Amino acid sequence: MYVCLCNGYRESELRDLAAKGISCPIEAYTTLGNGPCCGQCLDFAQDILDEAQRVCMGLELSLAK
Ligand code: FES
Repeated sequence: MYVCLCNGYRESELRDLAAKGISCPIEAYTTLGNGPCCGQCLDFAQDILDEAQRVCMGLELSLAK
C-alpha cells in the first residue's frame, strides 16, 4: 500500500526502516530519497513506524526469553 503519494513510498519501505530504528517520518523519507512534499501523509506514516517498532520490540522481547 502506498503511504505517500507525492513520493510513491510504500508501507513496506517504512516498516523496513522502522526495523532499522528509524522512528521519524521525515527521517524515513529523507533516507528513502526525498523529504515530504504536501505533508498529508505524515500522521499515517508515523502510525506505521510506531506500530512496526512495537512489533519489533515484541519480537526482541520474545527472543530474549
Ligand atoms: S502524500 Fe506524502 S508528502 Fe504528500
